[in-house]
Amino acid sequence: MPNQRPIIQASALTKRIDSGAHTVEILRGVDLAIPQGQFVAIMGPSGSGKTTLLGLLAGLDNPSSGSVILDGTNITGLAEDSLARIRGRKIGFVFQSYQLIPTLTAEENVLLPMELAGDGADPGRARDLLRQVGLLERRRHYPVQLSGGEQQRVALARAFAMRPPVIMADEPTGNLDTTNGLLVLDLLIELNRREATTLVLVTHDPEISSRAGRRILLRDGLIAADES
Ligand SMILES: Nc1ncnc2c1ncn2[C@@H]1O[C@H](COP(=O)(O)OP(=O)(O)OP(=O)(O)O)[C@@H](O)[C@H]1O
Ligand SMILES: [Mg+2]
Repeated sequence: MPNQRPIIQASALTKRIDSGAHTVEILRGVDLAIPQGQFVAIMGPSGSGKTTLLGLLAGLDNPSSGSVILDGTNITGLAEDSLARIRGRKIGFVFQSYQLIPTLTAEENVLLPMELAGDGADPGRARDLLRQVGLLERRRHYPVQLSGGEQQRVALARAFAMRPPVIMADEPTGNLDTTNGLLVLDLLIELNRREATTLVLVTHDPEISSRAGRRILLRDGLIAADES
């Protein structure tokens, strides 16, 4: 769709960390516009700034300079409570380490973002998502009763719970074996397609990135390549 406003617009993003004696420049000026619905893979060597960039795009961290506009709102410099509210509605996260709440069942984990947003839980939505990731029968299980791949499938369902316009995933298959990693990835891509979400996926795996509509290569804190 031409002329549509990007869902994420990052301009001249830098991130520096001052540690007394010297300054580490993690990001050195990143410009990036992501259209709604795009599946973007972010690649690059370890330490190139992928996780830092994702954190800035999500407002989990503040840039040293530059700005991020998320779905029309400039989130740079917003107070943490406003940021948290925007994040909760706009972004679903999938982490390498699942990050489920151990004292909640699978279903309760998926309901949690809705409860935190104060919208009231929608058990039908939670069950539909758990069904889509093949875990409806396990919805009353606690995370320790689930395998790594199953836990990550619950985390996928949780990420989509609020129907956020954007899903961000940082090496979501990094802790899984090849078979389970591929299963989780297929589910993520399929859910993303079905829900018409924007997917920003950090990955080291060229096979995974080959399935993305766009590949961005970070090197030393700069975009070294950007190909569709
Ligand atoms: N809080 C911090 N203080 C100092 N240096 C940091 C901090 N956070 C990140 N860095 C450094 O910034 C660089 C980029 O880190 P980042 O985690 O974004 O890399 P990455 O591309 O995600 O790497 P990986 O593939 O290993 O996950 C690294 O050199 C890291 O050591
Ligand atoms: Mg990282």
